[in-house]
Amino acid sequence: MMQAMMQGAVTVLGIETSCDETAAAVVRLENGRADVLAEHVASQTEDHALYGGVVPEIAARAHVERLDSLVRLAMEDAGVGWSGLSGVAATAGPGLIGGVMAGLSTAKAIALARGLPLVAVNHLEGHALSPRLADDVAFPYLLLLVSGGHCQFVAVEGVGRYRRLGSTIDDAAGEAFDKTAKLLGLAGQGGPAVEREATNGEATAVELPRPLLDRPGLDMSFSGLKTAVRRAAEDQPLTPRRRADICASFQDAVADILAAKSSRAMEAIAETTDRRTFVVAGGVAANKTLRARLEAEARNHGFRFVAPPQRWCTDNAAMIALAGAERLRLGLADPLDTPARARWPLDQASASAAPVYGAGKKGAKA
Ligand code: KG4
Ligand code: ZN
Repeated sequence: MMQAMMQGAVTVLGIETSCDETAAAVVRLENGRADVLAEHVASQTEDHALYGGVVPEIAARAHVERLDSLVRLAMEDAGVGWSGLSGVAATAGPGLIGGVMAGLSTAKAIALARGLPLVAVNHLEGHALSPRLADDVAFPYLLLLVSGGHCQFVAVEGVGRYRRLGSTIDDAAGEAFDKTAKLLGLAGQGGPAVEREATNGEATAVELPRPLLDRPGLDMSFSGLKTAVRRAAEDQPLTPRRRADICASFQDAVADILAAKSSRAMEAIAETTDRRTFVVAGGVAANKTLRARLEAEARNHGFRFVAPPQRWCTDNAAMIALAGAERLRLGLADPLDTPARARWPLDQASASAAPVYGAGKKGAKA
Protein backbone atom coordinates (compact mmCIF):
# COMPACT_ATOMS: atom_id res chain seq x y z
CA MET A 1 0.00 0.00 0.00
CA MET A 2 1.58 3.28 -1.07
CA GLN A 3 1.08 6.46 0.83
CA ALA A 4 2.92 9.75 0.67
CA MET A 5 6.63 9.69 1.41
CA MET A 6 7.30 10.97 4.90
CA GLN A 7 9.46 14.03 5.35
CA GLY A 8 11.43 14.84 8.50
CA ALA A 9 11.69 12.44 11.43
CA VAL A 10 9.89 9.10 11.27
CA THR A 11 9.25 7.45 14.64
CA VAL A 12 8.08 3.84 14.75
CA LEU A 13 7.09 1.32 17.41
CA GLY A 14 8.44 -2.11 16.40
CA ILE A 15 7.36 -5.55 17.61
CA GLU A 16 9.27 -8.84 17.20
CA THR A 17 7.80 -12.26 18.03
CA SER A 18 9.01 -14.62 15.28
CA CYS A 19 10.75 -17.13 17.51
CA ASP A 20 11.67 -17.21 21.21
CA GLU A 21 12.32 -13.53 21.87
CA THR A 22 9.47 -11.15 22.64
CA ALA A 23 10.59 -7.62 21.92
CA ALA A 24 9.32 -4.06 21.55
CA ALA A 25 11.29 -0.95 20.59
CA VAL A 26 10.82 2.62 19.45
CA VAL A 27 13.19 3.97 16.79
CA ARG A 28 13.40 7.44 15.31
CA LEU A 29 14.86 7.85 11.83
CA GLU A 30 15.97 11.34 10.88
CA ASN A 31 18.27 12.42 8.03
CA GLY A 32 19.24 8.76 7.53
CA ARG A 33 20.32 8.44 11.17
CA ALA A 34 18.62 5.96 13.48
CA ASP A 35 18.05 6.64 17.17
CA VAL A 36 16.82 3.81 19.37
CA LEU A 37 14.63 5.68 21.87
CA ALA A 38 13.63 2.57 23.82
CA GLU A 39 13.91 -1.18 23.59
CA HIS A 40 12.91 -4.19 25.66
CA VAL A 41 13.55 -7.88 25.03
CA ALA A 42 12.20 -10.83 27.02
CA SER A 43 13.94 -14.09 26.19
CA GLN A 44 12.09 -17.39 26.49
CA THR A 45 15.20 -19.58 26.77
CA GLU A 46 14.10 -20.84 30.18
CA ASP A 47 10.53 -21.60 29.06
CA HIS A 48 11.88 -24.05 26.48
CA ALA A 49 14.91 -25.41 28.38
CA LEU A 50 13.15 -28.62 29.47
CA TYR A 51 12.30 -29.59 25.89
CA GLY A 52 15.68 -29.19 24.15
CA GLY A 53 14.31 -26.79 21.54
CA VAL A 54 11.75 -24.07 20.97
CA VAL A 55 8.18 -25.41 21.39
CA PRO A 56 5.94 -23.32 19.06
CA GLU A 57 2.85 -23.50 21.28
CA ILE A 58 4.75 -22.43 24.40
CA ALA A 59 6.44 -19.65 22.42
CA ALA A 60 3.13 -18.27 21.13
CA ARG A 61 1.58 -18.24 24.59
CA ALA A 62 4.63 -16.56 26.12
CA HIS A 63 4.52 -13.83 23.45
CA VAL A 64 0.85 -13.16 24.17
CA GLU A 65 1.49 -12.96 27.92
CA ARG A 66 4.47 -10.59 27.69
CA LEU A 67 3.74 -8.40 24.72
CA ASP A 68 1.39 -5.87 26.32
CA SER A 69 3.74 -5.00 29.15
CA LEU A 70 6.78 -4.83 26.86
CA VAL A 71 4.99 -2.44 24.51
CA ARG A 72 3.89 -0.31 27.47
CA LEU A 73 7.46 -0.20 28.84
CA ALA A 74 8.93 0.72 25.46
CA MET A 75 6.37 3.50 24.99
CA GLU A 76 6.99 4.86 28.51
CA ASP A 77 10.77 4.87 27.99
CA ALA A 78 10.55 6.47 24.57
CA GLY A 79 8.48 9.30 26.03
CA VAL A 80 7.05 10.37 22.68
CA GLY A 81 3.42 9.40 23.39
CA TRP A 82 1.15 7.63 20.92
CA SER A 83 0.68 10.85 19.01
CA GLY A 84 4.45 11.04 18.52
CA LEU A 85 4.49 7.83 16.48
CA SER A 86 4.48 7.82 12.68
CA GLY A 87 3.48 4.15 12.52
CA VAL A 88 3.67 0.70 14.05
CA ALA A 89 5.72 -2.18 12.61
CA ALA A 90 5.73 -5.87 13.40
CA THR A 91 7.44 -8.96 12.07
CA ALA A 92 4.92 -10.60 9.71
CA GLY A 93 7.17 -13.59 8.90
CA PRO A 94 9.07 -15.77 8.38
CA GLY A 95 8.87 -17.55 11.72
CA LEU A 96 6.81 -19.75 14.00
CA ILE A 97 3.33 -18.84 12.88
CA GLY A 98 1.63 -18.62 16.30
CA GLY A 99 4.22 -16.16 17.55
CA VAL A 100 4.16 -14.10 14.36
CA MET A 101 0.36 -13.88 14.60
CA ALA A 102 0.57 -12.70 18.22
CA GLY A 103 2.92 -9.84 17.36
CA LEU A 104 1.27 -8.84 14.11
CA SER A 105 -2.23 -8.84 15.67
CA THR A 106 -1.01 -6.62 18.48
CA ALA A 107 0.46 -4.19 15.95
CA LYS A 108 -2.78 -4.20 13.95
CA ALA A 109 -4.83 -3.47 17.07
CA ILE A 110 -2.57 -0.53 17.96
CA ALA A 111 -2.67 0.77 14.39
CA LEU A 112 -6.45 0.59 14.33
CA ALA A 113 -6.97 2.10 17.78
CA ARG A 114 -4.50 4.95 17.24
CA GLY A 115 -5.12 5.56 13.55
CA LEU A 116 -1.52 4.76 12.62
CA PRO A 117 -0.15 3.14 9.47
CA LEU A 118 0.90 -0.52 9.83
CA VAL A 119 4.13 -1.90 8.42
CA ALA A 120 4.35 -5.70 8.04
CA VAL A 121 8.09 -6.33 8.17
CA ASN A 122 9.98 -9.33 6.83
CA HIS A 123 12.13 -10.48 9.77
CA LEU A 124 15.06 -11.05 7.39
CA GLU A 125 14.80 -7.46 6.18
CA GLY A 126 15.12 -6.45 9.84
CA HIS A 127 18.41 -8.36 10.07
CA ALA A 128 19.52 -7.04 6.67
CA LEU A 129 19.05 -3.40 7.75
CA SER A 130 20.25 -3.91 11.36
CA PRO A 131 23.80 -2.58 10.72
CA ARG A 132 22.20 0.80 9.99
CA LEU A 133 21.03 1.04 13.64
CA ALA A 134 24.53 1.78 14.87
CA ASP A 135 26.63 2.65 11.83
CA ASP A 136 26.34 4.87 8.84
CA VAL A 137 26.15 2.14 6.18
CA ALA A 138 25.16 3.28 2.70
CA PHE A 139 23.64 1.03 0.03
CA PRO A 140 24.67 -1.12 -1.69
CA TYR A 141 26.45 -3.62 0.56
CA LEU A 142 27.26 -7.28 0.67
CA LEU A 143 25.48 -9.06 3.51
CA LEU A 144 26.13 -12.38 5.17
CA LEU A 145 22.92 -13.12 7.05
CA VAL A 146 23.69 -15.88 9.49
CA SER A 147 21.11 -16.86 12.08
CA GLY A 148 19.25 -19.81 13.57
CA GLY A 149 16.95 -20.22 10.59
CA HIS A 150 18.95 -18.72 7.73
CA CYS A 151 22.40 -18.57 6.23
CA GLN A 152 22.74 -16.62 3.00
CA PHE A 153 24.74 -14.07 1.05
CA VAL A 154 22.64 -11.16 -0.13
CA ALA A 155 23.40 -8.10 -2.24
CA VAL A 156 21.50 -5.35 -0.38
CA GLU A 157 20.80 -2.70 -3.01
CA GLY A 158 18.30 -0.62 -1.07
CA VAL A 159 15.25 -0.89 1.17
CA GLY A 160 13.19 -3.76 -0.29
CA ARG A 161 15.84 -4.55 -2.90
CA TYR A 162 17.63 -7.78 -2.07
CA ARG A 163 19.40 -10.26 -4.33
CA ARG A 164 20.30 -13.67 -2.94
CA LEU A 165 23.77 -14.72 -4.08
CA GLY A 166 24.08 -18.03 -2.26
CA SER A 167 22.62 -19.92 0.63
CA THR A 168 22.96 -22.99 2.80
CA ILE A 169 21.54 -26.04 1.07
CA ASP A 170 20.60 -27.72 4.35
CA ASP A 171 20.95 -26.45 7.94
CA ALA A 172 21.52 -22.86 9.01
CA ALA A 173 24.78 -22.15 10.84
CA GLY A 174 22.96 -21.21 14.05
CA GLU A 175 21.04 -24.46 13.91
CA ALA A 176 24.39 -26.30 13.78
CA PHE A 177 25.53 -24.38 16.89
CA ASP A 178 22.27 -25.26 18.66
CA LYS A 179 22.48 -28.95 17.75
CA THR A 180 26.13 -29.15 18.78
CA ALA A 181 25.26 -27.66 22.16
CA LYS A 182 22.40 -30.09 22.62
CA LEU A 183 24.54 -33.06 21.63
CA LEU A 184 27.19 -32.09 24.18
CA GLY A 185 24.62 -31.43 26.90
CA LEU A 186 25.40 -27.71 27.23
CA ALA A 187 22.82 -25.57 29.03
CA GLY A 188 21.40 -22.27 27.78
CA GLN A 189 21.20 -20.96 24.22
CA GLY A 190 23.33 -23.05 21.83
CA GLY A 191 25.55 -20.45 20.18
CA PRO A 192 26.72 -18.61 23.29
CA ALA A 193 27.17 -21.94 25.16
CA VAL A 194 29.41 -23.38 22.43
CA GLU A 195 31.36 -20.10 22.22
CA ARG A 196 31.95 -20.17 26.00
CA GLU A 197 33.12 -23.82 25.99
CA ALA A 198 35.35 -23.20 22.99
CA THR A 199 37.52 -20.76 24.94
CA ASN A 200 38.89 -23.74 26.94
CA GLY A 201 39.50 -25.97 23.92
CA GLU A 202 41.93 -26.48 21.02
CA ALA A 203 40.58 -25.66 17.58
CA THR A 204 42.92 -28.21 15.99
CA ALA A 205 42.11 -31.06 18.40
CA VAL A 206 39.23 -32.64 16.46
CA GLU A 207 39.30 -33.06 12.71
CA LEU A 208 36.01 -31.88 11.20
CA PRO A 209 34.94 -31.46 7.56
CA ARG A 210 34.40 -28.15 5.73
CA PRO A 211 31.57 -29.19 3.37
CA LEU A 212 31.24 -27.60 -0.10
CA LEU A 213 34.52 -25.66 0.13
CA ASP A 214 35.82 -27.69 -2.78
CA ARG A 215 32.93 -26.54 -4.97
CA PRO A 216 32.60 -23.19 -6.72
CA GLY A 217 29.80 -20.78 -5.88
CA LEU A 218 28.40 -19.34 -2.67
CA ASP A 219 26.19 -22.16 -1.46
CA MET A 220 27.02 -23.62 1.94
CA SER A 221 26.28 -26.81 3.87
CA PHE A 222 26.39 -27.57 7.58
CA SER A 223 24.61 -30.88 8.00
CA GLY A 224 27.74 -33.02 7.38
CA LEU A 225 29.53 -31.01 10.02
CA LYS A 226 26.78 -31.80 12.49
CA THR A 227 27.10 -35.54 11.79
CA ALA A 228 30.87 -35.34 12.26
CA VAL A 229 30.35 -33.58 15.61
CA ARG A 230 28.05 -36.39 16.72
CA ARG A 231 30.67 -38.97 15.78
CA ALA A 232 33.37 -37.04 17.65
CA ALA A 233 31.13 -36.86 20.72
CA GLU A 234 30.52 -40.62 20.66
CA ASP A 235 34.08 -41.65 19.75
CA GLN A 236 35.67 -41.02 23.11
CA PRO A 237 34.47 -40.41 26.67
CA LEU A 238 33.01 -36.92 26.81
CA THR A 239 35.36 -35.38 29.37
CA PRO A 240 35.19 -31.61 29.96
CA ARG A 241 38.42 -31.35 27.95
CA ARG A 242 37.00 -33.31 25.02
CA ARG A 243 33.82 -31.25 25.11
CA ALA A 244 35.77 -27.99 24.96
CA ASP A 245 37.95 -29.33 22.12
CA ILE A 246 34.89 -30.32 20.10
CA CYS A 247 33.36 -26.86 20.61
CA ALA A 248 36.56 -25.07 19.60
CA SER A 249 37.03 -27.31 16.55
CA PHE A 250 33.39 -26.97 15.51
CA GLN A 251 33.48 -23.17 15.84
CA ASP A 252 36.69 -23.08 13.81
CA ALA A 253 35.11 -25.20 11.06
CA VAL A 254 32.07 -22.88 10.83
CA ALA A 255 34.35 -19.83 10.77
CA ASP A 256 36.48 -21.46 8.03
CA ILE A 257 33.44 -22.17 5.87
CA LEU A 258 31.94 -18.70 6.30
CA ALA A 259 35.30 -16.94 5.85
CA ALA A 260 36.12 -18.84 2.66
CA LYS A 261 32.69 -18.25 1.15
CA SER A 262 32.76 -14.58 2.23
CA SER A 263 36.08 -14.19 0.46
CA ARG A 264 34.50 -15.53 -2.72
CA ALA A 265 31.44 -13.34 -2.27
CA MET A 266 33.59 -10.21 -1.93
CA GLU A 267 35.53 -11.14 -5.07
CA ALA A 268 32.28 -11.62 -6.97
CA ILE A 269 30.62 -8.41 -5.76
CA ALA A 270 33.77 -6.34 -6.36
CA GLU A 271 33.26 -6.97 -10.07
CA THR A 272 29.83 -5.35 -10.04
CA THR A 273 30.22 -2.32 -7.74
CA ASP A 274 32.80 0.10 -6.42
CA ARG A 275 31.13 0.27 -3.03
CA ARG A 276 33.11 -2.15 -0.88
CA THR A 277 31.22 -2.82 2.31
CA PHE A 278 30.80 -6.26 3.86
CA VAL A 279 28.19 -6.66 6.59
CA VAL A 280 27.50 -9.66 8.80
CA ALA A 281 24.19 -9.80 10.67
CA GLY A 282 21.92 -12.28 12.47
CA GLY A 283 22.34 -14.21 15.73
CA VAL A 284 25.54 -16.06 14.77
CA ALA A 285 27.18 -12.72 13.94
CA ALA A 286 27.40 -12.25 17.73
CA ASN A 287 30.19 -14.85 17.76
CA LYS A 288 33.54 -13.16 18.47
CA THR A 289 35.73 -15.72 16.71
CA LEU A 290 33.60 -15.47 13.60
CA ARG A 291 33.57 -11.67 13.65
CA ALA A 292 37.36 -11.57 13.90
CA ARG A 293 37.76 -14.03 11.01
CA LEU A 294 35.35 -12.13 8.76
CA GLU A 295 36.93 -8.81 9.64
CA ALA A 296 40.35 -10.12 8.63
CA GLU A 297 38.90 -11.47 5.40
CA ALA A 298 37.30 -8.09 4.62
CA ARG A 299 40.59 -6.31 5.29
CA ASN A 300 42.37 -8.65 2.85
CA HIS A 301 39.88 -7.72 0.16
CA GLY A 302 39.92 -3.97 0.84
CA PHE A 303 36.33 -4.04 2.13
CA ARG A 304 34.97 -2.04 5.05
CA PHE A 305 33.65 -4.50 7.65
CA VAL A 306 30.49 -3.80 9.66
CA ALA A 307 28.83 -5.97 12.29
CA PRO A 308 26.02 -4.67 14.52
CA PRO A 309 26.58 -4.63 18.29
CA GLN A 310 25.74 -8.07 19.72
CA ARG A 311 22.31 -7.10 21.07
CA TRP A 312 21.22 -6.19 17.55
CA CYS A 313 22.65 -9.39 16.02
CA THR A 314 20.24 -11.67 17.88
CA ASP A 315 16.50 -11.13 17.50
CA ASN A 316 15.36 -7.70 18.64
CA ALA A 317 12.64 -5.17 17.91
CA ALA A 318 14.92 -2.21 17.16
CA MET A 319 15.74 -3.70 13.74
CA ILE A 320 12.02 -4.25 13.06
CA ALA A 321 11.20 -0.66 14.05
CA LEU A 322 14.05 0.57 11.83
CA ALA A 323 12.85 -1.48 8.84
CA GLY A 324 9.35 -0.10 9.50
CA ALA A 325 10.65 3.47 9.61
CA GLU A 326 12.71 3.01 6.42
CA ARG A 327 9.65 1.65 4.61
CA LEU A 328 7.32 4.35 5.93
CA ARG A 329 9.77 7.03 4.86
CA LEU A 330 9.40 5.65 1.32
CA GLY A 331 5.62 5.69 1.64
CA LEU A 332 5.31 1.92 2.05
CA ALA A 333 2.61 0.75 4.50
CA ASP A 334 0.48 -2.40 4.62
CA PRO A 335 -3.26 -3.05 4.91
CA LEU A 336 -4.72 -4.27 8.20
CA ASP A 337 -5.63 -7.63 6.66
CA THR A 338 -1.99 -8.48 5.84
CA PRO A 339 -1.51 -12.14 6.82
CA ALA A 340 1.23 -13.61 8.99
CA ARG A 341 3.56 -15.84 6.98
CA ALA A 342 5.53 -18.86 8.19
CA ARG A 343 7.75 -18.68 5.11
CA TRP A 344 8.73 -15.48 3.34
CA PRO A 345 11.95 -15.32 1.31
CA LEU A 346 13.78 -12.02 1.27
CA ASP A 347 14.50 -12.32 -2.44
CA GLN A 348 11.25 -13.68 -3.85
CA ALA A 349 12.54 -13.90 -7.43
CA SER A 350 15.59 -16.06 -6.60
CA ALA A 351 13.57 -18.17 -4.18
CA SER A 352 11.01 -18.98 -6.88
CA ALA A 353 13.63 -19.61 -9.57
CA ALA A 354 15.85 -21.79 -7.37
CA PRO A 355 14.14 -22.88 -4.16
CA VAL A 356 16.54 -23.97 -1.43
CA TYR A 357 14.77 -26.88 0.12
CA GLY A 358 15.76 -27.54 3.67
CA ALA A 359 17.35 -24.20 4.49
CA GLY A 360 15.94 -22.81 7.66
CA LYS A 361 13.02 -25.20 7.71
CA LYS A 362 14.06 -27.66 10.32
CA GLY A 363 15.51 -25.51 13.06
CA ALA A 364 13.82 -24.03 16.04
CA LYS A 365 14.12 -20.66 14.38
CA ALA A 366 12.53 -21.77 11.11
O1 KG4 B 1 18.91 -14.02 14.66
P1 KG4 B 1 18.53 -14.96 15.74
O2 KG4 B 1 18.37 -14.43 17.13
O3 KG4 B 1 17.21 -15.71 15.37
C1 KG4 B 1 16.88 -16.10 14.08
O4 KG4 B 1 16.33 -15.26 13.34
O5 KG4 B 1 17.24 -17.25 13.73
O6 KG4 B 1 19.63 -16.11 15.74
C2 KG4 B 1 19.63 -17.09 16.71
C3 KG4 B 1 20.76 -18.05 16.43
C4 KG4 B 1 20.72 -19.28 17.33
O7 KG4 B 1 20.93 -20.43 16.55
C5 KG4 B 1 21.85 -19.04 18.30
O8 KG4 B 1 22.42 -20.20 18.83
C6 KG4 B 1 22.82 -18.26 17.43
O9 KG4 B 1 22.01 -17.41 16.66
N1 KG4 B 1 23.76 -17.47 18.25
C7 KG4 B 1 25.09 -17.67 18.22
C8 KG4 B 1 25.63 -16.78 19.19
N2 KG4 B 1 24.60 -16.07 19.75
C9 KG4 B 1 23.46 -16.51 19.14
N3 KG4 B 1 25.86 -18.51 17.51
C10 KG4 B 1 27.18 -18.48 17.74
N4 KG4 B 1 27.76 -17.68 18.65
C11 KG4 B 1 27.05 -16.82 19.39
N5 KG4 B 1 27.64 -16.03 20.30
ZN1 ZN C 1 16.39 -13.49 13.55
